[in-house]
Amino acid sequence: MYRGRRLRKNSVIRDMMKETRLSAKELVYPLFVTEQPDVKQEIPAMPGVYHYSLDHLHEILDEMVETGVLSCILFGIPLHKDACGSSAYAQDGIIQKAIAYIKQEYPMLYVIADVCMCEYTDHGHCGILCEDGHVDNDVTLTYLNKIALSYAAAGVDMVAPSDMMDGHIASIRECLDAHGYQEVAIMGYSAKYASSYYGPFREAAHSAPSFGDRRSYQMDYANQEEAMREIAADIEEGADVIMVKPALAYLDIVKMAKHQFATPLCVYNVSGEYSMLKLAVAQGLVKEEVIYETMLAFKRAGADIIITYFALDIAKQLRKGE
Ligand code: PBG
Ligand code: ZN
Repeated sequence: MYRGRRLRKNSVIRDMMKETRLSAKELVYPLFVTEQPDVKQEIPAMPGVYHYSLDHLHEILDEMVETGVLSCILFGIPLHKDACGSSAYAQDGIIQKAIAYIKQEYPMLYVIADVCMCEYTDHGHCGILCEDGHVDNDVTLTYLNKIALSYAAAGVDMVAPSDMMDGHIASIRECLDAHGYQEVAIMGYSAKYASSYYGPFREAAHSAPSFGDRRSYQMDYANQEEAMREIAADIEEGADVIMVKPALAYLDIVKMAKHQFATPLCVYNVSGEYSMLKLAVAQGLVKEEVIYETMLAFKRAGADIIITYFALDIAKQLRKGE
């Protein structure tokens, strides 16, 4: 008889048998930075997550350093929006300022910047529109280049294009290299699905499309093989890290990607996934440990790094357990 219980007898042997572990070093914390002054405001749809203005940002950055979460991904909330998202590539834009500030004051932190247009366009789509209301792929590429370049000039460590335009990784890589930013890494939001799990984020980032939806550029959640094609294209174009997003309902994609590609793999535990768990824990429906269990499932499926709004919560729990 197979007696699996022999290796579950006590915590020493159970710890030795652990196939998957998690440390704060693998977590990336998303930060919403608003251009408005003097703001630290909780996002209603995301309890425990805040908008910060530049002058309050040190509060959360200090907390990251204390808990050992040493990487963040930045999202901007600009004061001004227009058809071409000009605040996204303005030299004195909110993200450009945030990058420069963090790299200056917190050189121990690794700074990733999301590259997209939806927070900056007045129509809320992730690119430049044609006459007929479709997002124009190749025109958008020239704007994404400008955004990535301005982040690189501000000192960013890694850019993460989340727009889902075709050819964006190659376009950004070529542009960065041509301007001497060979050192800036690129993480592709390679397999990004058109998902209702982004709801709370769009409220937080004021980035919901004013008409239509994102299904002409983000992926259909019915598809698995298509994700492999998207990832292969991003790697071919020069992505240093690939991503699957959302995470929880997409672990089949994570596992496939890990097996098919020898490229570092990130999962994005998105806003809707965060809010669901956070509320269930707050209501006492499930124990807080469910959060850790979920993170471990991402790693078990094959994730190398995890972007999560839980990063600080988990890092604190890990500290306690040490
Ligand atoms: C911008 C972007 C989105 C997310 C990350 N970058 C929203 C979207 O595509 O609508 C979602 C993140 C989350 O839900 O936590 N394109
Ligand atoms: Zn977008």
